[in-house]
Amino acid sequence: MIKKCLFPAAGYGTRFLPATKSMPKEMMPIVNKPLIEFGVDEALEAGLTGMCIVTGRGKNSLMDHFDLNYELEHEISGTPKEEKLKDIRAIMDKARFSFIRQRQMRGLGHAILIGKELIGDEPFAVVLADDLCVNAEEGVLKQMISLYNQFRCSIVAVEEVPDDETHKYGVIKGEMIKDNIFRVDDMVEKPDPGTAPSNMAIIGRYILTPDIFDIIKETPPGKNGEIQLTDALLTQAKRGCVLAYKFKGRRFDCGSVPGFIEATNYVYENMYKD
Ligand code: G1P
Repeated sequence: MIKKCLFPAAGYGTRFLPATKSMPKEMMPIVNKPLIEFGVDEALEAGLTGMCIVTGRGKNSLMDHFDLNYELEHEISGTPKEEKLKDIRAIMDKARFSFIRQRQMRGLGHAILIGKELIGDEPFAVVLADDLCVNAEEGVLKQMISLYNQFRCSIVAVEEVPDDETHKYGVIKGEMIKDNIFRVDDMVEKPDPGTAPSNMAIIGRYILTPDIFDIIKETPPGKNGEIQLTDALLTQAKRGCVLAYKFKGRRFDCGSVPGFIEATNYVYENMYKD
């Protein structure tokens, strides 16, 4: 059973400078809830309770967010404002949080490898919190966990993107084995324009089997000199099987300003409770 979810959250968030100069990008709020909390909600909904966060320098507010704030709680205790803490208190009751620091940014593959210390030798989920995913019924991770229970191999979530955007993503090629499920036979991290194997882009949701850790250790730096999870997953696909799943729902790229604004409007109109 998958119990843990890894959140690589050590990146700099340069696209949102100066906001992210001293605030982690994962703490940027969509209306009144930080991005990371949306990710944790999605993981809890999928039945995962171990939240393993890979942080870095200057990211302590990520830890504080999921801990008690005695002074604040004391001040608002017994007032209507307490209601505003209801959701985060429920999260803190249900989930366990553990943190590890990544000293150097050497790519997503490297961040995942740092997380091994918290994950151990079991399959796990990965959420990149700047991809915010919503779905009226089951969340994307929940959909992926059901798929994992059927197939027992690594799974990446994909969506079709316009041809002129494939260079921003890991892109897969694969044979459809069932509705919305593909067996991956090629995978390229941020292909140069015009060279993508398809327009099926990986978005920030993964289920990984633990053999990925040893594969990452053997994976040389790839695109931009970084250790790429996409390269490690291609090795895993060649040795066994990796699936790509075209998920149900909508995803907002909150790492970009237009995506962040779209997500804000969507959440305000559909999910915000005053
Ligand atoms: C990472 C992955 C990429 C994936 C993307 C999804 O890239 O390396 O394969 O498509 O997340 O958001 P990043 O956006 O961190 O550069």
